[in-house]
Amino acid sequence: MLTKEEVQKLLHPIEDPFLHKTLEETGGVEEIKIKEEKNHVSVKVGVAKTNTAEQMQLQQEIVNVLKGAGAATVGLRFTQLPDEVIEKYQQSAQQAEEASLMNGQTGTTFISIASGKGGVGKSTVTVNLAIALARLGKKVGIIDADIYGFSVPDMMGVEERPVVRGEKILPVERFGVKVISMGFFVEDNSPVIWRGPMLGKMLTSFFKEVEWGDLDYLLLDLPPGTGDVALDVHSMLPSSKEIIVTTPHPTAAFVAARAGQMAIQTEHEILGVVENMAYFESQVTGDKEYVFGRGGGEKLAEQLKTDVLGHIPLRQPFEEEDIFAPSVYQEDHPTGQIYRNVAAKVIDRTS
Ligand SMILES: Nc1ncnc2c1ncn2[C@@H]1O[C@H](COP(=O)(O)OP(=O)(O)OP(=O)(O)O)[C@@H](O)[C@H]1O
Ligand SMILES: [Mg+2]
Repeated sequence: MLTKEEVQKLLHPIEDPFLHKTLEETGGVEEIKIKEEKNHVSVKVGVAKTNTAEQMQLQQEIVNVLKGAGAATVGLRFTQLPDEVIEKYQQSAQQAEEASLMNGQTGTTFISIASGKGGVGKSTVTVNLAIALARLGKKVGIIDADIYGFSVPDMMGVEERPVVRGEKILPVERFGVKVISMGFFVEDNSPVIWRGPMLGKMLTSFFKEVEWGDLDYLLLDLPPGTGDVALDVHSMLPSSKEIIVTTPHPTAAFVAARAGQMAIQTEHEILGVVENMAYFESQVTGDKEYVFGRGGGEKLAEQLKTDVLGHIPLRQPFEEEDIFAPSVYQEDHPTGQIYRNVAAKVIDRTS
């Protein structure tokens, strides 16, 4: 014959399927009644969400545990936990969800690089920020989440392909940064024509099936605009931070504000704005020309209540004979130094 204390002890370690906390922590075991003559145990259990498939599973688990311990019959009622309990644990539940994407690893800061429109330099910023973070001693990865328009491998001059080890894909490492991209999995640069649900699946695979190891930062290079993938990222990674890239033209900033607005709606914290193609600096006279206008970065930052992390001029990396990475600015390149400052600010804002 089970006692109330024994029942409690049996149920306490079981986890709430949504909060990923034990019933002991959530106070989910709300009532226990025992009918000795029939060896019947009835319990009332509070969970974060009722009437779900997960509840059915939990029900099965509880019944099994109690019967396994000797109860002849089990009566079970579910109620919803009080709001304050749910709120208290929701955040950590999200973290657990994200950690499960990273095979249980916690402590990775996700940063999505977004913009309102194409061609403003998201991928260039992603690559160089990642490399700058790595130069500052951080463990960094990049997910090229632009499934159709992948460009990260070419920009970094990656020629290897990822290796499969057991059930996992090992990302390619270049300049100290681990990279995964759709570009690794298509032949001859042929266009990718998957849509909708496949995109989400691909993105999930880029997390779960890739052996990222320990990472301090995982940067996501988003496709332009506020489409499917951007939304997937928002819902998969509620704790992701965002950097919004814009050009200095006030209209570009206006468009970029939409991406920023989306970040705000989904409660992604905006780390700041990067103004790319900010000016052209004559290497003869040192004069700056604001070829694409001025003030877009500041205007956007103001609108999003954040600030400008850096202004990146129009310029190519140094040409190097032995290393081919067309979009990577060297450490001693003036633009490389600007990226270093941006990276330092990012570290500052995320620790
Ligand atoms: N500061 C810069 N100086 C010179 N060229 C640049 C600079 N930033 C980006 N570019 C070039 O501009 C082009 C667009 O940049 P990039 O591909 O990074 O933009 P994107 O926002 O990722 O584009 P998409 O929306 O197509 O993904 C590339 O050819 C890149 O090399
Ligand atoms: Mg891009």
